[in-house]
Amino acid sequence: MRFLAISGSLRARSSNTAVLEAAQLLAPTTIEVVLYHELGLLPPFNPDEDVEPLPAAVARWRAAIAGADALLFCSPEYARGVAGSVKNALDWLVSGFEVIGKPIASINASPIATVGQEALLATLRTIGVVVEEASIRLPLNSAQKTREGILADDAHVTALRGALDRLASAVTAARTS
Ligand code: FNR
Repeated sequence: MRFLAISGSLRARSSNTAVLEAAQLLAPTTIEVVLYHELGLLPPFNPDEDVEPLPAAVARWRAAIAGADALLFCSPEYARGVAGSVKNALDWLVSGFEVIGKPIASINASPIATVGQEALLATLRTIGVVVEEASIRLPLNSAQKTREGILADDAHVTALRGALDRLASAVTAARTS
């Protein structure tokens, strides 16, 4: 199975990206976690440009979605909302087919923020199939903002492994339904 992992932070030392890198290392051999690194290359969403041929970065984004069995998001809250790079990327999926029926999980790595995560989940439920039991909270403290810091915490490791397993179960169930 291939899970496309999308961080909502473009920061070079992003803690949200670190969560997905930790998930990549913890994934069993049956699951390939591939991080998407081009979110920052997507143009601002414009319905006038949402036509064939799509902007090249958008075509690559949609192809990556189409090639994944499931999507795994981890995104920060900005100003009590969804980080703009993620919402912009999701807007570029609405008119396509690639995300329809796709199992999706979203991890909240903040120990305090909830509003942005709920807003992101509302959009993800609109365009895909959110696997609620795989959409976990992973409250990182200041010492856990790196992949190594996350992997050093047994509770986080167990939680990430569980989320991956439940997302994989949803993919299997979708295949056989
Ligand atoms: C934030 N942050 C933030 N945090 C929060 O709990 N609620 C919020 O509304 C905001 N708003 C906000 C706006 C902007 C512009 C920035 C840059 C930051 C803090 C932010 O969510 C937090 O630092 C995340 O950990 C950043 O994620 P990365 O970049 O470490 O992955």
